[in-house]
Amino acid sequence: MKNTEPTLMQTGTDRPAKSKTDQFYDDVLTGLQSAPKYLNSKYFYDANGDKLFQELMNCEEYYPTNCELEIFSERTAEICKAVIGDGDAFDLIELGAGDATKSTYLLQYLMEQQADFTYLPIDISENVISYLNVTLPVTLTGIQITGLNGEYFDMLEKAASLSNKRKVVMFLGSNIGNMLVDEAESFCRELREHLSAGDMMLIGFDLKKNPKTILAAYNDKGGITKQFNLNLLERINREFGADFDTSKFEHYPTYDPETGACKSYLVSICDQEVKIGTETIRFLRDEYIFMEISQKFTIAQTDKMAKNGSFKPVYHFFDSRKWFTDVIWIAE
Ligand code: AVJ
Repeated sequence: MKNTEPTLMQTGTDRPAKSKTDQFYDDVLTGLQSAPKYLNSKYFYDANGDKLFQELMNCEEYYPTNCELEIFSERTAEICKAVIGDGDAFDLIELGAGDATKSTYLLQYLMEQQADFTYLPIDISENVISYLNVTLPVTLTGIQITGLNGEYFDMLEKAASLSNKRKVVMFLGSNIGNMLVDEAESFCRELREHLSAGDMMLIGFDLKKNPKTILAAYNDKGGITKQFNLNLLERINREFGADFDTSKFEHYPTYDPETGACKSYLVSICDQEVKIGTETIRFLRDEYIFMEISQKFTIAQTDKMAKNGSFKPVYHFFDSRKWFTDVIWIAE
């Protein structure tokens, strides 16, 4: 089962589509020319954004990563047992793999069990994928890995075209929380269409908890979350020669315990104009840009989401505080 092929990086650029930069530029202008203004948080993750997110994961107040790490380190055997199932070969696909710290617990254990699998991390960050392609074969000797850089569904199709093995799709870290509840529901239905009966999902959801705990995680005293948000404006400056003055925007995080929506905004502190390429964007004082949602869920909501997407929820793993859950769903 040892991999003899060189690791391979797929970029999805072989299909006729806009280049990544064109798409980013169009999305930025569409969002900033809308009322109200918005930007898509998937664009937070350039090399600098990746670094800031690493810092965030290490800061006091940001609990989700530690909760999920606790689940992956304490429940490794049980999770792997569920994933291995009858022992037939499978593709372990990870959407938004990041630095793969959490999945490494599983990968290590699966290798020890001599499970027959290929690991296919998918990430929007090119930086992340080239890092994984290089470092994982060093730390996990003999791992079969194919990193895929691109959008989730494009790369999922790519993964399906590479093999017809059983699929286990991981979507960790409450990345699913970056979608509005309706979007998350249709995302699960769309995912199901890319899978076959018996395929599996392993999804991490951040759960509703004390509102102060949640708000603090998105409003850290060290101001990393603020920088993380402002970095998107800086990225637009870097990539398109725009002239955002980040000192003229305030970070405004909110959490609504009723809906479980944790949202962040950047608020303009004065009337101002920003040039992006040939366009001028006007901001009034106190006008906001909606930057990100990090939705918090109840277990009942996650089960309902599974059922709506024709999945059967079969396991719920929790950390000791029950702040976070990793669930396993089987496609029906
Ligand atoms: C990587 C999407 C899970 O929403 O909690 C952290 C990103 N934003 N702090 C999250 C994030 C602000 C994070 N996810």
